[in-house]
Amino acid sequence: MQQIKEQLVEALKSATTAEQVERIRVDFLGRKGSITLLAKNVDFSKLTAEEKKGFGQKLNELKGFATDAIAAASAALASTATRKKSNDLDLTAPGKGRRLGALHPITLAQMELEDVFQGMGFTVVYGPEVESEYFCFEAVNIPHDHPARDMQDTFWLKNQLVMRTHTSAQQVRALKRFGAPFRGVFPGRCFRFESIDPSHENTFYQCEGLYVDKGVSVANLIAVMRTILSQTFKRDVKVRLRPGYFPFVEPGFELDLNCLICGGKGCATCKNSGWIELIPCGLVHPEVLRQGGIDPKEYSGFAFGVGLTRLAMMKYGIRDIRYLNCGDLRVNEQFSTIM
Ligand code: PHE
Repeated sequence: MQQIKEQLVEALKSATTAEQVERIRVDFLGRKGSITLLAKNVDFSKLTAEEKKGFGQKLNELKGFATDAIAAASAALASTATRKKSNDLDLTAPGKGRRLGALHPITLAQMELEDVFQGMGFTVVYGPEVESEYFCFEAVNIPHDHPARDMQDTFWLKNQLVMRTHTSAQQVRALKRFGAPFRGVFPGRCFRFESIDPSHENTFYQCEGLYVDKGVSVANLIAVMRTILSQTFKRDVKVRLRPGYFPFVEPGFELDLNCLICGGKGCATCKNSGWIELIPCGLVHPEVLRQGGIDPKEYSGFAFGVGLTRLAMMKYGIRDIRYLNCGDLRVNEQFSTIM
């Protein structure tokens, strides 16, 4: 028994895996294990009652010792195994990270523009993207047979509805709803059946502005435009005003911005002209006021349509309009991170 005990201790000392410990258990305590066989190989009939008792006690002690020693060995192995596993956990490794949301550059430009206009007392009004033909065209002085209909390639829907081609569709809606005097901006998404290139998209954003009051003139228009641009770009920008035709303004202008991508030298974004058409504008056509229920003899006003998509491109130096609608989060992440 003493010998078996020593063998067991030796065997357990050299065991390094759970499998080895299990094999030792089988070798000693299994059905054919050396401890089990000890009892089987003894001819009890030759022993006295005294000897039987002594043998039985010793054997039980040995079994108890073996069971405990094996359990202890496997417990020790298990705890080193966990320790080893926790050593694999590298607390200094960089975390997996959690992506924070980011606002789209157009959203950022829109929020900032809304702020600037609200600072000047303009109300922000949102309108429908699916618009009636009337508000999109007729109300702003573009009747059916007017050649200006061709200026904007339109996605036509059923029942004389269209995907609005411009935010000017909001002009008469607003006048009917709020009356005069009125100061408001209408930011939103517009749609045109256009082929896509670095500066054209079929889906883009505008921010319309409408100012109607007594005695409003071109001087007021220019003052407001200057304020917006200097506040938006937070630097001096070069602009130019040239005549432009839009059926809903008279006189009408194109306000161009010196291209901020190339500094006016000419690039793909400005189609090598050095200028970006940014804000078409003009004094509200009397017919539009009339459609809105306003007397053009009493009131006058100005309207403008900021190309919000272009504004964002200029502000953030985005060379290609196609990045804006591509849905790739890596685009957004470059411009803002919000919690
Ligand atoms: N709605 C015009 C367009 O999208 C822009 C515009 C707005 C022009 C307001 C003049 C005044 O082309």
